[in-house]
Amino acid sequence: MTTTDLIKKLFLSFNEKDNDAFVQIAREYIEHEKRKKHTVVAKDLEKALFSASSVQNAGKRFKNTLPIPRDTEKGFPLLEIQHFDKSIDALIISSEIKDQLDQVIREFKDADILSTYNLQNKKKILFCGRPGTGKTFSAQIISSVLNLPLVYIRFDAIISSYLGETASNLRKVFDYIESGTWVVLFDEFDIIGKNRDDNHEHGEIKRVVNSFLQMLDNLKSDSIILAATNHQNMLDPAIWRRFDDVIYYELPDENIRKLLFEIYLKPIKKDADIDMAKAASMTDGFSPADIKMVTEEAMKTAIISSKNHLGQNEIDCAIQKFIRREKVRNDLMGDK
Ligand SMILES: Nc1ncnc2c1ncn2[C@@H]1O[C@H](COP(=O)(O)OP(=O)(O)OP(=O)(O)O)[C@@H](O)[C@H]1O
Ligand SMILES: [Mg+2]
Repeated sequence: MTTTDLIKKLFLSFNEKDNDAFVQIAREYIEHEKRKKHTVVAKDLEKALFSASSVQNAGKRFKNTLPIPRDTEKGFPLLEIQHFDKSIDALIISSEIKDQLDQVIREFKDADILSTYNLQNKKKILFCGRPGTGKTFSAQIISSVLNLPLVYIRFDAIISSYLGETASNLRKVFDYIESGTWVVLFDEFDIIGKNRDDNHEHGEIKRVVNSFLQMLDNLKSDSIILAATNHQNMLDPAIWRRFDDVIYYELPDENIRKLLFEIYLKPIKKDADIDMAKAASMTDGFSPADIKMVTEEAMKTAIISSKNHLGQNEIDCAIQKFIRREKVRNDLMGDK
């Protein structure tokens, strides 16, 4: 059988949700690679097919995948399944945060060993910190590294949709989570703090948050549950207590900003005298997402002006432009 035949059979078995056939054809394919003396490839594929997570979840993944839950009132999907292929090296962050994330990943991989000592891996993690510092990005990276799909839930969308429906929406989301092993991200968890001025809404949201916390407590799942917010001050102690770890994302210091400039500007050729340290020193208070935006602006300016090299001038201008833009935004917000 040719490689194409095998892959075609593999796809068909996936479509038919026939897990046993899928595994059998995958094995045939590995043997096929071995016969071609592609031992490294074969080993790699074997590892992917029989990794702890895939064997554990194969049944769930192929047999009882539930339909994506939808809002009863309006019918919009309550979550999204996303797949990423990112390396942890793409995250430029303090070594403390990297260590915390690493720990979550390693404990998940060694969950079986930990359980023989009656210990549980950290599963519920709260990400806090300023916008654009890498909270959503970290969830994508954990999902990539663990080779698990990311179940993405916009917490605010579920709640703001229709308050009366929220509890049942949450129930559906948790039922879905329990049907498999995933990395789950409750993003934009901020809603909890936002409506505190409106007493009626606030009371309702409080009830919803309580039912969320109860569902979180009762959740029986191997999944990693992440929640991200940039209003950490507003989260009360009852919420903090529910999480096994809280990771606080700070704005990058000058060294990290320099690294960010270097990485984001990698794709383009640069003048020899370009000074990344200067760019880093000019961008105090910028988040990684801000620096990304500035570097993209600088590269675009260089490219459309038909220069094939990026100069310091483009970087400086893009930084200044960003600072002006932020000033306008802050002035407008101040007027409110
Ligand atoms: N620490 C980082 N290292 C590298 N790139 C980063 C980092 N933080 C953010 N970025 C870049 O900025 C983009 C936006 O970041 P992200 O969405 O993770 O921010 P966030 O913390 O979730 O912000 P928000 O609170 O607004 O949701 C990312 O997709 C990534 O390209
Ligand atoms: Mg985010």
